[in-house]
Amino acid sequence: MDPVRLGYVGCGFMAQKVHIPNFISLPNCELLAIAEVRNQLGQKVQQKHQIPKLYQDHIELAKDDEIEAVAVSAGFAMQGQIAKDLLSAGKHVFMEKPMAVSVKQAEEMVKAAESAGVKLMVGYMKRYDAGNELARSYIDQFRQSGELGALTYVRNHGFGGDWVCNLDTPRVTTDEAQPSAPNPVPEWLPENRVGSYLGYLQQYTHNINLLRWLLDAGDDVKVKVVDLDDDGYSGIVIFEMAGIRAILESGSISHYRWDEHTQIYFQHGWVHTWAPPLLLKNTPAEVEIYRAGDDQEVTQPIPKPSWTWAYHREVEHFIQHIRMDEPFRSSGQDTLTDVRLYEEIYRQFLGLD
Ligand SMILES: NC(=O)c1ccc[n+]([C@@H]2O[C@H](COP(=O)([O-])OP(=O)(O)OC[C@H]3O[C@@H](n4cnc5c(N)ncnc54)[C@H](O)[C@@H]3O)[C@@H](O)[C@H]2O)c1
Repeated sequence: MDPVRLGYVGCGFMAQKVHIPNFISLPNCELLAIAEVRNQLGQKVQQKHQIPKLYQDHIELAKDDEIEAVAVSAGFAMQGQIAKDLLSAGKHVFMEKPMAVSVKQAEEMVKAAESAGVKLMVGYMKRYDAGNELARSYIDQFRQSGELGALTYVRNHGFGGDWVCNLDTPRVTTDEAQPSAPNPVPEWLPENRVGSYLGYLQQYTHNINLLRWLLDAGDDVKVKVVDLDDDGYSGIVIFEMAGIRAILESGSISHYRWDEHTQIYFQHGWVHTWAPPLLLKNTPAEVEIYRAGDDQEVTQPIPKPSWTWAYHREVEHFIQHIRMDEPFRSSGQDTLTDVRLYEEIYRQFLGLD
């Protein structure tokens, strides 16, 4: 196919460390333009990667008819509006999570994409991790065959740790001030809870999104119990996902590695995955299959695509799927559920429901 003509908005940390190098490495993608409101930063990044065009902001870039798709990584507060403006201008969009900070904002974005006939993908890289793909294929197979009996229980534990892993991809910086914008958070959220709401959702939206995908739950998810500490971050949330109890354990630890794992229990065994620290390149999640019952056997299958990085695979997926009829694996439409869930979690936490 002709290479996808791509623009990129926001030249900060994720852009330089992860996404711009990944997009540039794809043979079916041409990065033709960037936009950055911090002008000196934009110039430095343009020069470093020899990108033909530099725009002052996403509004200017949106007017460039040569660009058919745009990737966005700006702050939580700005990203949703930027993506919506680009979608309305007829560009396909890949954006970092969170897609939006309220259901209202997310719905407007999905409508903008539908009206313009373009597609939105949200960067939930865990769905593109080759280890998670392998885990999902085992879960599907066990559910269909009944080999391990019924699926009984699911948990995701995410205490985090060091996610940057000394990633040595060079990054240019300037002392220009970061732009700011009001947070379009839900009206019911008290001012003193905005920080913790954003903190919780920006971290655990990944875990909730992964669980929904592993269980193929779609929008069939309810928040049953929320038990978080006063910090609005540490604790547990119990969901019913596709009729199955799923627990999310949130918290933090000064771990030098990354403390996150997911376990899917069947009557006679489990599928267990350990997530790699996020920016550790070319390391997929580890997978363990336990066949209990008569077998009593543990295996650790290795994903066939050798030593891959979820962030690379997600942008490959974006570029490949732009011109296909199939939806993205982490589409804007699907992400509406995640946005609904973090509003529901916080409403229950604050005793509003
Ligand atoms: N998927 C992951 O694992 C992961 C990890 C870290 C961060 N993130 C997400 O990535 C996003 C970006 O994080 P970051 O650390 O790269 O931020 P950053 O602040 O380093 O970079 C954002 C850049 O966007 C620019 N910008 C803002 N508005 C703009 C506009 N209208 N036009 C052009 N440029 C604009 C800013 O000047 C800034 O340089 C966040 O939303 C965060 O949630 C995701």
